[in-house]
Amino acid sequence: MTCRISVLGVGYLGATHAACMAELGHEVMGVDTDPAKLSKLAAGEVPFYEPELSEILQKNISAGRLTFTSSYDDAAAFADVHFIAVGTPQKTGELAADLTYVDSVIDNLVPRLRKPTTIFGKSTVPVGTAERLGIKARELAEHGHIPEVAWNPEFLREGYAVKDTLQPDRLVVGVDKNTPGRAIEVAKRVYSQLIKDGVPFVETDLATAELVKTSANAFLATKISFINAMAEICEVSGADVTELADAIGYDTRIGRRFLNAGIGFGGGCLPKDIRAFMARAGELGVDQALTFLREVDNINMRRRTGTVDKVRTLLGGSLVGAKIAVLGAAFKPESDDVRDSPALNIAGQAQLQGATVTVYDPKAMENSRRIYPTLIYASSVEKACEQADAIMVLTEWREFNELEPSKISKLVRKKIIVDGRNCLDAENWIDHGWYYYGPGRSLSGPIDA
Ligand code: UGA
Repeated sequence: MTCRISVLGVGYLGATHAACMAELGHEVMGVDTDPAKLSKLAAGEVPFYEPELSEILQKNISAGRLTFTSSYDDAAAFADVHFIAVGTPQKTGELAADLTYVDSVIDNLVPRLRKPTTIFGKSTVPVGTAERLGIKARELAEHGHIPEVAWNPEFLREGYAVKDTLQPDRLVVGVDKNTPGRAIEVAKRVYSQLIKDGVPFVETDLATAELVKTSANAFLATKISFINAMAEICEVSGADVTELADAIGYDTRIGRRFLNAGIGFGGGCLPKDIRAFMARAGELGVDQALTFLREVDNINMRRRTGTVDKVRTLLGGSLVGAKIAVLGAAFKPESDDVRDSPALNIAGQAQLQGATVTVYDPKAMENSRRIYPTLIYASSVEKACEQADAIMVLTEWREFNELEPSKISKLVRKKIIVDGRNCLDAENWIDHGWYYYGPGRSLSGPIDA
């Protein structure tokens, strides 16, 4: 059955959710305060790189199922179901999440509602937020129509956003158990196609729904830092972390995914989410429960400094005057997102230590230039590698995995390659006379390369 849906906030999460809900056959209105973003989306253009998204955006705009507006009046009049998809960034100077945008959606929307509605939160929020927003909504309702506030966290990964929305591992819907309403029924109508496809549907309370999201990201971050800690041990004991990960990953209780050792996690989610989670635990008086996440964060940050230290050592103890090619700037492949990108952080640190750093990324050049204008940007791998003393592969784009060492050898000053994502064919590089370094691996090759 078709629903009339508004998606409030059409950044990464909201634009994807709006397009995917229209793809499921619903009538959808995307709402945002940023006119530039709205006009791009309305013209069928995705303001960031995400495979498959522009096709479904254009298709559903043409079919008349998807529109965009900056007007809360239009959204309130149009939709029976509202999804909050605004950002919850880290507060400046604090670990906690900034909830200004989430609160502002409730403040702006609720007084305009003139019919029974359900508001689903999708943004990642500290546990307790949904209940607070529900109370606020009851206070702000003006026309006798108190909206029900429920929580429906989002688990999409950048680079796979469309697939993760239309074929998620699970759907989670949390409702206020004290004021039972129709949210579960409404969610089942919105997601009827997915439920028919066999996607598990988890019904729970508000706090559990919020915590499912934060604890899932905390677990993923912990898994990555675990393998990166193992990489540190492997490096000093002559073991190989990639073989170790394969071997422990065969145990289905452990699983191989998210056990790729390297320069660690970044992006707009995992780093800020574990910090907001620690801050919230502190507010709830159980900070000790999440003290381990501080160590997860420390291990992760050490990957960045450790990689710069390693390349400095390889270059004789100083980066002053060294020419370094950095291949990859996005926080992960299939994305142009550079928020808290380990790759750019390492590029920036190397530059601050005196190196001349030239960066190339297939998709993230424009975003990188905006936040790191002082780095040098090359238009191809070859141009970035010209006369380099060391090459650092810091995002595992396929283009880099498939590089031919014999061709790159002719361009560089020194044959030193740092494989920050353990994504290259190490033996191939060593066979071509390169010194190879991958975190947690004891492979090398000639250092006088
Ligand atoms: C993450 C979660 O995976 C999603 O489930 C969640 O919905 C999303 O955050 C969110 O909260 O919105 P995302 O930030 O898109 O998704 O990226 P991931 O695929 O989780 O990767 C995060 C970082 O971890 C990247 O920098 C990646 O390179 C790194 N990583 C990942 C590793 O270093 N090793 C691995 O084995 C896997």
